[in-house]
Order: sequence, then structure tokens, then C-alpha cells
Amino acid sequence: MTSTMKIPFLDLASPHQELESELLAVAKKAFQTAGFIGGPMVEEFEREFALFCDAKYCVGVNSGTDALRFAFLAAGVNPGDIIVTVPHTFIATTEAISQAGAHIAFVDIHEETYTMDPEKLREYLEDHCELDGATGKLIEKVSKRVVSAVVPVHLYGQTAEMDPILDLAKKYNLIVIEDACQAHGAEYFSKKDGAWRKAGSMGHAAAFSFYPGKNLGACGEAGAITTNDGAMMKRMRMIRDHGQAKKYYHDIEGYNGRLDSIQAGWLSVKLRHLAKWNESRRELAHRYHELLLEVEDSLVIPREASWTKGVYHLYIVRVQDRETLLARLAEAGIGTGIHYPIPLHQQKAYEHLGYETGDFPVTESIAREIVSLPMFPQLSNTQQDEVVSKIKEFLSVSVATAR
Ligand SMILES: Cc1ncc(COP(=O)(O)O)c(C=O)c1O
Repeated sequence: MTSTMKIPFLDLASPHQELESELLAVAKKAFQTAGFIGGPMVEEFEREFALFCDAKYCVGVNSGTDALRFAFLAAGVNPGDIIVTVPHTFIATTEAISQAGAHIAFVDIHEETYTMDPEKLREYLEDHCELDGATGKLIEKVSKRVVSAVVPVHLYGQTAEMDPILDLAKKYNLIVIEDACQAHGAEYFSKKDGAWRKAGSMGHAAAFSFYPGKNLGACGEAGAITTNDGAMMKRMRMIRDHGQAKKYYHDIEGYNGRLDSIQAGWLSVKLRHLAKWNESRRELAHRYHELLLEVEDSLVIPREASWTKGVYHLYIVRVQDRETLLARLAEAGIGTGIHYPIPLHQQKAYEHLGYETGDFPVTESIAREIVSLPMFPQLSNTQQDEVVSKIKEFLSVSVATAR
């Protein structure tokens, strides 16, 4: 976001101005008690956020990246194990895998949902791996490594298709860690359970980021892990705090990954508004959808699968001549983003994984076309109309020139 933008991609200032007195009261409390790390404000937020996610426990940590890493470590991923995820996500997903000492394996996403394609996961697990009869562990045939976990990423605020992913995980003894960093409040209809399930309540554990621009954002760095597993919760509490459950009694080596109490207090204030903010995002997404429907031939609009209730962290369209559209919108003072322009298997950081262009065709093709449009709860209808009118103007010119 730049301040000169007429219509920003994201307006972070307005919600903080609206909540200023409540947020300042939290800061005052922190100064008065001088309890800056852990303590009652963190415990209160953990209780509230667990409740919000329909999970038994929440462990506050200092980022979404640490949330993922601590979840892998607490779930018992061993150094050298393979963790399977998608190449269409923010690099933090895979950084956490490497930082936990594990190896990354990718499977492609689904063309309509942009989340892990369960069929591609099945193909990988069944064609490239085999169950070791003696240990019951799944082994990747070529590398002989143990495949121990899978990370579905609930990207853009829509959950991955969890029923088939959870079934496969059960069949092959895999740990499931949801990357829910973009999906606070998103829901998934589980046919198996006959019920809507919240992001953060379905896997062995789930990671959330409270980076300021997220649907629930701190005023700095913060994150959390949710889980229904009491033993995992205890391990994660130790891992975030130098491996101690009692001060200076270190059962293991851990990390400095605690949640600041002032951030927890601010998150509690904002959590009270999250359902309303998510509803506004959903209404805006439906409005974009209605307004853009008539240009559907030249612009792909997001499809919400029947099994998901998305919270539209991002609103993504796809267009062939993306660079020109981005330039036209920028000229009109409209902020946009690309999440993400280069698939992870094509990043320099992952050359050593040995993947090639063409390995994940869905990810590669959408990475060339995606554009994130302005999306935040305070976006007005007038602003949204202007974004849409500029897009339509661009499309009518590009269609006319193509004739
Ligand atoms: C999908 C995804 N995973 C993980 C993260 C990491 O979260 P954090 O930035 O809080 O470490 C993010 C944050 O942008 C994310 O979008």
C-alpha cells in the first residue's frame, strides 16, 4: 500500500483509528503492570481464540512462521522427514519445514480453489511412496525418506478440501498441520462429519499469523497455534519458551518464540470485531462477483466451492495481460498485489530441490495471471465501483484491440 493510492490495496489505518481508545487502554494496562511477555493478557487471548476456532487449545507465539515450525516439532516430525505441501503459498510455509529440519515435497493445487488438489496428493502418496510393512511408515521410493506430515494451506481465506486430505493422512499415518495463516474464521463443510468445521480445528494442529495485514492482525509480529491435542499443546508451550515448563528447568532446547502480552491484548480487542469484518469481506467479495460476472469471458473470478465459507483475506482475479491491467490500475491510483508471482519450486532458494518448470502446471499458469484486488472490510461501494469500472474499461480496450 502506498499513501498516494486513491484506493489502497489495504487500509490498515482506519480500523486502528476506530478502535484507538480501546487499544490505548490495553497499552496503559501493560505499562501499569509491566507484564510485557506472557501473563494474563496472553492467556485470555489464547482462551478466546481457541473458542473462536472451535479448538480446545491455543498457544500464542511470535509469528505464523514460528507457529508452523513449533507445530512440526511438537507433532514429532524428525530431521530428514518429508513434509508435503503446495508450491503456491507464501515461502514461510516451506521455510518452517526446512527450519524444522525436514524436507519439502510439493503437490499441485486445484485450478478452481487454488488450494491443495487432493487427487495430486493421492498421486504423490500412492505412486511415489510405499508403506514400510515393518514400521508402518510411508517411505518416498526414490529418496527413501519417511513422509511424516502434510500441510494444506487455506490460501486467500478459503479452506483446502479437507475430507479427502484427512482420509489420505489417516490411511498413510501422516500428521496434518493446517496453514491457516490467511484463514481466521474460514469454514469447511465436512461431509464426513455432516457439519461445518472451522479452520484451525481439523488437523493435528494449525498455524495462524497475526501479521498486521491479516484478517486478524496484531500491531506488530504475532502468531498462534491451535490444537485439540493436550500433549501437543504442552510441548508447543515448552518449545516457544526455551524448552521450559518451569522457569530454568529446561527439558529440551526450545526457542524464544513467545507472544508479547501487549499484542495479545490488542488481538483480544480486535477479535471482538473479526466476525463482523469477515462478513464485510464476504459481502464485498459477492459484490465484486456480481459486478464482474459480465466480463467473465476475459477475467476469471474466484469460485467459492460449495464446501467452503471463505473469509476473503484476498480477492483474486485472473487475467491474461496482467502487466497492462496492473499498470492501468496503478495509473488510476488503485492498489493491487500479486500473491504470488513466482511459484516456490521456481524460486532460487529451492533450486536444490531439483524441480523443473512444468512440474506443477496449475500453479505455474495461475502465477502468471493472478491479481489481488483491493479487499478490506472498510472498502466502500463507491471505491469498489471504481475498481470494477477501471477493470471493465481495460478489458473493453484489450478485447477491441485483439479483434
Ligand atoms: C500462507 C502463509 N503461511 C505462513 C505465513 C507466515 O506468517 P508470519 O508472517 O506471521 O510469520 C504467512 C504470512 O504471510 C502466510 O500467508
